[in-house]
Amino acid sequence: MTPDAIALLRREHDLIDRIFPVLEEVAWRVDHGRNLPDGVFPEVLDFLNNFISRCHYVREEQQLIPALTAAGVDTNSGVAADMLDDHRKARLIFANITRFGQHLEQAGSGQEIGASVRIFDSLMRIHKRKEDQILFPMAMELLSDAQMEAIALGFTEMDAKGEPFRGSMKRYTDIAGELEERLEVSL
Ligand SMILES: [Fe+2]
Repeated sequence: MTPDAIALLRREHDLIDRIFPVLEEVAWRVDHGRNLPDGVFPEVLDFLNNFISRCHYVREEQQLIPALTAAGVDTNSGVAADMLDDHRKARLIFANITRFGQHLEQAGSGQEIGASVRIFDSLMRIHKRKEDQILFPMAMELLSDAQMEAIALGFTEMDAKGEPFRGSMKRYTDIAGELEERLEVSL
């Protein structure tokens, strides 16, 4: 029995939610000249670039969307196209945060990171709602059990390739917990 593909994507969404208070705290500290504990910023970037962008988004883009296309859903417009557009915007925001993070000590970096965080926060809240409330229910209604199993198998094949897929829930749950503890924030 393969794991439930949609349940995994929903669990990843819940984990992604935990990065928002962390990002807010990082931006606040940088903005107010407070030191960040060693290693915090690289872990934040790891979470954004590897877990969200290269793992979660890729699972949706390479497994879920092609399955919906095969089921006759027009993925060039509507909620699926919106979702892909949100991913593109989020990746631009991650690139900005990565770039500003290379100059954390420079005045203005905190404001720039803060601005990117706020844009990402509002984008992701709407994005998650669209996926959780429209896209995932649509997939569950339109895709057969066999198609859903094929997506889950696709995820398993991704996991077999190694990082960033294999063990990602455990690794990034640990990283989120460590970031929350070191920055004294929680969801
Ligand atoms: Fe998603």
